[in-house]
Amino acid sequence: MFALHGHIIYSESKDKLCIKENGYVICEDGISQGVYDTLPEQYKNITVKDYGDRLIIPGLVDLHVHAPQYSFRGLGMDMELLDWLNQYTFPEEAKYKELTYAEKAYKQFVEELRHSPTTRACIFATLHTEATYLLMDLLEEMGMKAYVGKVNMDRNCPDYLREDDVSEAIRETKEWVGNSIKKYKNVLPIITPRFIPSCSDLLMKGLSQLQKETGLPAQSHLSENPSEIKWVQELCPDSTCYGDAYDRRGLFGLYGKTVMAHCVYSTEEEIEKMKENGVYVAHCPQSNTNLSSGIAPAKKYLERDLKIGLGTDLAGGHSISMFRAMADAIQVSKLRWRLLNTKETPLTIEEAFFMGTKGGGEFFGKVGSFEKGYEFDAVVLDDTSLLHPQELTVRSRLERMIYLSDDRNIYAKYIAGCCIV
Ligand code: GUN
Ligand code: FE
Repeated sequence: MFALHGHIIYSESKDKLCIKENGYVICEDGISQGVYDTLPEQYKNITVKDYGDRLIIPGLVDLHVHAPQYSFRGLGMDMELLDWLNQYTFPEEAKYKELTYAEKAYKQFVEELRHSPTTRACIFATLHTEATYLLMDLLEEMGMKAYVGKVNMDRNCPDYLREDDVSEAIRETKEWVGNSIKKYKNVLPIITPRFIPSCSDLLMKGLSQLQKETGLPAQSHLSENPSEIKWVQELCPDSTCYGDAYDRRGLFGLYGKTVMAHCVYSTEEEIEKMKENGVYVAHCPQSNTNLSSGIAPAKKYLERDLKIGLGTDLAGGHSISMFRAMADAIQVSKLRWRLLNTKETPLTIEEAFFMGTKGGGEFFGKVGSFEKGYEFDAVVLDDTSLLHPQELTVRSRLERMIYLSDDRNIYAKYIAGCCIV
């Protein structure tokens, strides 16, 4: 049991940012016991880690990231989704068949993640089971809490990156799920059909059945790019929208928590279906900009009370920083408001911070806040390098961290009560 002392900032709701200057947040058995002005009587004798004038926020949640794509971030940003997948992504992911390559690349990704403000992540690996275990081993060792998906894909992809026997793919995925649940404490498996174009109906049926049997969460991509959406319509003529194609295949929140990345072009019907089924949106503004996908209506999703968090979507996105994802979300919302829809006002700092903490955190349970009962994920920020001639408010200092921070500003990091940096 211990307390952290400093300027404590957390979201209560999308509109309510709570700030406790010179406050205490208490951790008992990995769970927050709440935020206080002074230490309550029963905690008088616990250890206090005094972080002085530094900011203390909940750990940030990356709701959508591709670990094997970390290696080529910042490259191949001259294409739209489908060409980018064929020319850059699939050739790179194929390299993870070789465990020596996978180990080298995944170690670099995990090391950078350690020094980032991220404490939880929903991660795509590749279709290679052995390399996926390797990634899970590294994350587990680091103390990261993560869902990791062995990717399933069996059609419309190159021979060198395809599962060519569906029953074998399902058998192997089941075995990986069973082993992972037994083997890891911090890391959990997540069912991961890449997206409708690369998954046959038979594969989807097997994965839906697996979700029904295990109750595990699922992750995929939805309504990201106009050519992709048109392709899904051709592949699934029976479906009324892209989300309906997942729904008809039993992978749209029917048997477990489900998160869909992008949702740039979701129709009214698709939005309603996400709401009804409790499907989470992973808003990935930097990727949507880099791949010229578009601007997702994040403000509308918040106003409609959809479940929503932020994702870096490496390597569609080039930055691993979830602060950067917050800044990008705000910036693109301004363009959407100015250029596309004057009714959708720009996202506020409060809303962006909410999505990057409590909004995405909900996918992991009681995560992303310091309210009593939440898992204790905390990041201590040192902003002394950001010079300013005047004293700033704590809220302004947070705003500057969102726009200006890098890993040098991460002073300490706790995940589920354990100090890992
Ligand atoms: N859709 C299917 N696969 C991918 C991927 O790897 N990245 C992105 N951004 N979209 C996808
Ligand atoms: Fe993605």
